[in-house]
Amino acid sequence: MAKMEAKTSLLDNMIGVGDMVLLEPLDEDSFINNLKKRFDHNEVYTYIGSVVISINPYRSLPIYSPEKVEEYRNRNFYELSPHIFALSDEAYRSLRDQDKDQCILITGESGAGKTEASKLVMSYVAAVCGKGAEVNQVKEQLLQSNPVLEAFGNAKTVRNDNSSRFGKYMDIEFDFKGDPLGGVISNYLLEKSRVVKQPRGERNFHIFYQILSGASEDFLCELKLERDFSRYNYLGLDSAHVNGVDDAANFRTVRNAMQIVGFMDHETQSVFEVVAAVLKLGNIEFKPESRVNGLDESKIKDKNELKEICELTGIDQSVLERAFSFRTVEAKQEKVSTTLNVAQAYYARDALAKNLYSRLFSWLVTRINESIKAQTKVRKKVMGVLDIYGFEIFESADNSFEQFIINYCNEKLQQIFIELTLKEEQEEYIREGIEWTHIEYFNNAIICDLIENNQTGILAMLDEECLRPGTVTDETFLEKLNQVCATHQHFESRMSKCSRFLNDTSLPHSCFRIQHYAGKVMYQVEGFVDKNNDLLYRDLSQAMWKASHSLIKALFPEGNPAKINLKRPPTAGSQFKASVATLMKNLQTKNPNYIRCIKPNDKKAAHVFNDALVCHQIRYLGLLENVRVRRAGYAFRQAYEPCLERYKMLCRQTWPHWRGAARAGVEVLFNELEIPEEEFSFGRSKIFIRNPRTLFKLEDLRKQRLEDLATLIEKIYRGWKCRTRFLLMKKSQIVIASWYRRYAQQKKYQKTKSSAVTVQSYIRGWKARKLLRELKHQKRCNEAATIIAAYWHGTQVRREYRKFFRANAGRKIYEFTLQRIMQKYFLEMKKKMPSLSPIDKNWPARPYLFLDSTHKELKRIFHLWRCKKYRDQFTDQQKLIYEEKLEASELFKDKKALYPASVGQPFQGAYLEIGKNPKYKKLKDAVDEKIIIAEVVNKINRANGKATSRIFLLTKNNVLLADQKSGNIKSEVPLGDVAKVSMSSQNDGFFAVHLKEGSGAAGKGDFLLSSDHLIEMATKLYRTTLSQTKQKLNIEIADEFLVQFRQDKVCVKFIQGSQKNGNIPTCKRKNNRLLEVAVP
Ligand SMILES: Nc1ncnc2c1ncn2[C@@H]1O[C@H](COP(=O)(O)OP(=O)(O)OP(=O)(O)O)[C@@H](O)[C@H]1O
Ligand SMILES: [Mg+2]
Repeated sequence: MAKMEAKTSLLDNMIGVGDMVLLEPLDEDSFINNLKKRFDHNEVYTYIGSVVISINPYRSLPIYSPEKVEEYRNRNFYELSPHIFALSDEAYRSLRDQDKDQCILITGESGAGKTEASKLVMSYVAAVCGKGAEVNQVKEQLLQSNPVLEAFGNAKTVRNDNSSRFGKYMDIEFDFKGDPLGGVISNYLLEKSRVVKQPRGERNFHIFYQILSGASEDFLCELKLERDFSRYNYLGLDSAHVNGVDDAANFRTVRNAMQIVGFMDHETQSVFEVVAAVLKLGNIEFKPESRVNGLDESKIKDKNELKEICELTGIDQSVLERAFSFRTVEAKQEKVSTTLNVAQAYYARDALAKNLYSRLFSWLVTRINESIKAQTKVRKKVMGVLDIYGFEIFESADNSFEQFIINYCNEKLQQIFIELTLKEEQEEYIREGIEWTHIEYFNNAIICDLIENNQTGILAMLDEECLRPGTVTDETFLEKLNQVCATHQHFESRMSKCSRFLNDTSLPHSCFRIQHYAGKVMYQVEGFVDKNNDLLYRDLSQAMWKASHSLIKALFPEGNPAKINLKRPPTAGSQFKASVATLMKNLQTKNPNYIRCIKPNDKKAAHVFNDALVCHQIRYLGLLENVRVRRAGYAFRQAYEPCLERYKMLCRQTWPHWRGAARAGVEVLFNELEIPEEEFSFGRSKIFIRNPRTLFKLEDLRKQRLEDLATLIEKIYRGWKCRTRFLLMKKSQIVIASWYRRYAQQKKYQKTKSSAVTVQSYIRGWKARKLLRELKHQKRCNEAATIIAAYWHGTQVRREYRKFFRANAGRKIYEFTLQRIMQKYFLEMKKKMPSLSPIDKNWPARPYLFLDSTHKELKRIFHLWRCKKYRDQFTDQQKLIYEEKLEASELFKDKKALYPASVGQPFQGAYLEIGKNPKYKKLKDAVDEKIIIAEVVNKINRANGKATSRIFLLTKNNVLLADQKSGNIKSEVPLGDVAKVSMSSQNDGFFAVHLKEGSGAAGKGDFLLSSDHLIEMATKLYRTTLSQTKQKLNIEIADEFLVQFRQDKVCVKFIQGSQKNGNIPTCKRKNNRLLEVAVP
């Protein structure tokens, strides 16, 4: 914390100087320039010691956030840059911790930001003080009193859109813990003339416009109002609407705030009814009426408005009407009634409106106080916040009674400011044991005296005038002033006898001028008497008291005839003087905190800094004076601890730590820095520095030293950082290395282990095998020994038993057995023999497996034997026939369709018995060889295909064809000339005998024949040719073949399916190339 304090300070990063006390050189220009510089950099707050100067930024700055509140909370005043929160915090903490009641005095001219500042202070205190449901309700009520009072007490003026038209002092009460308990509000001098008349460009109080804009139609109707502003004489119309102000929304805010503060519904209703009545009063108009006795009399023009007011307030219409027409003066038990002329009637009306409104306002304050009153009787700590109009100086002679009063109040505030500041300064010096040096300053007590002196004061004189019987006018009042105050050095008037201002033309005759501490102000006496009297005719207050409206009745207690009081009510001036006196008394018991508000320009514009305007305000606020007072003697002071903390780095002995007392440390430090002795003084707890230059020198040195220290810290930090990093890396390296080594060792160990296991297993294997071998060897030896022993035993036994057995008996038995089996087998076979037919496939089953081959062989032999037997029964003739049949089978089986039919037919050969038939005697003779075939065939005519019968003869060497009838040999072909025999594969008997080319018989060509015994003929032809020529005859079986007829090669084609001639094949020569044979 101490380090933090040393680092962040008002003096760090300062724009200009944050505390005017340190301003060097100190004059008006540098003062303004410093403010301007800071203002341009958005620094709207500047200190003069503990006083805060606040310049209205006229725009919202981001410096009031909750974060900012936290930043300033519980920090020392000079720790951070100047801020209203710093002052609020300081005030709140010394209230809470040191039990000192506080007051916060906010001054400045209209629009300088006083009200805003007071709200900021309140919101800061609300934010930092205790929390809890009850406390929060109190806070909320305190805060919400603002919108209510602002609605009724603020108005738009040319200088400020939300100008407070009353002075306000609020005491906030806290318990010993610093939690708010409640509050009390005092109001000062509401500017009630505004109710009936507003200067150009200004408005009446906000509430009138808010009701008309924001109330619902029903509510307006209830209040007998119309929404249109122009309907009301009391509302200044030229600036009825203010830019950026939403009256309707504000109305809702106000009603809500009234509810939070604790107004009951019927109270709120009554308040608005009074407001409506005031507004409507303005619309009552009078017309003159002359009476017979010459007296002027007035009459209400339109009684409708009056009627409505009476309905609203519950006043008897006639009573009110009378109150507007007559004035009753009571003196010494005598009642005198006079009529009012039109001007007097208007005066009475306006007086009533003003009184009604200002009394309503005071009632509101009382009512709010009732709500926010602290509920306990315990001792309370108090924080007062004063938001009161600052000095008002209008151009030329526009200053009137109100300005006079206001300026008087400011004069008083200045006085207490000077008193308190100086007193504090003085007390501090005494407290700190510093020698007191006299401070030159202007004491405005004399001006206050001019105004408030009980005998010769201006206010006293005014009261005197007002009470004096006879004609009293403003002029008589001025005359009196001229007489009494002429010699006063702060009073100026042209009329006074020995006046120094007789020739001062800038001072009109109807005016007097006062030299206030803040400057000269010229006051116009017109209206002083009236305003001070603040007269309300008794008839009116009595009429009001008669109202059935309870609030109105309560506002006019003096109207009660029972309490009739002939004593005049206190004048406005004396009332104000009394309340100011009370206020001053109140303030004097408290620790003051000042906020001086300054308006940077007249245009309500952001970023604009009008030097002349600011200069004027600085002057009348006496700020320069303020600095001078503060700097009288010593410009700067600081407690030893923070001072040492801030500058200890400038000296070797105190840096970095000073072990002794802080004061001794500061002494060492200042000696070391060789600061001239007259420049500072040591107080009890603080060091006092005479000249700001010394402080700035210290600051410069500190800044330089901080840079060096920063470098040093950086150096050490870098070194530390590198070293830490290095150490960390080293540590890491060791960790990594150890892990790696462990890993490597582990791997190596595992490898060695596995090698050892391998070697071990090999050795164990080898040993085991060796052992196994030995055991096996041993086992075999044992077995061998056993076998040898068995054999040996066997031999021994056999040798011993040989004599008991015949040698080879077993073999014999075996052979015998076998023989017997064979014998049995054959005998069995004999019984089961199959038939002798070669085609019988039966054969008995085999009895023993070992006889398998024998059995098969036996079957084969038996078959061969029975075939032989079968063959043996054939004669030679039969053998020949079978041979031929066999030959035929080989040649035609499965080739020629005719063949199967031929199998059953015995080959007879000589079908024609040539030798026996005499007819063929000649033929028989011609053929001397043995005839193998003699048969009738059909010879096909080569030319037309027609068949002619011929006798076909085959002998050992020739083939002959002879005429059937005559027996003449037609053709003779030696077997050697037959080249080939062709036939179809069909079931027909056609065949062609091809002759070898160039042979003797080949002249006419090949023969085409047909026979019923084709198979036999072809077989025999084949066999004969083979035996005679030792050549195989070529037999071609095809359904299409070529024959040679003389020179032509003719194709013989067999066609199946022609059924023309039944089953007899027909032969037809188609052309010289084709001969068709149709077979069935
Ligand atoms: N701190 C601030 N930040 C932003 N705007 C501000 C600040 N202070 C004042 N203002 C602006 O200036 C206007 C006038 O301020 P404020 O009403 O506080 O003046 P005042 O001193 O109370 O004047 P009057 O004497 O007429 O009541 C405010 O309405 C607001 O717009
Ligand atoms: Mg204000």
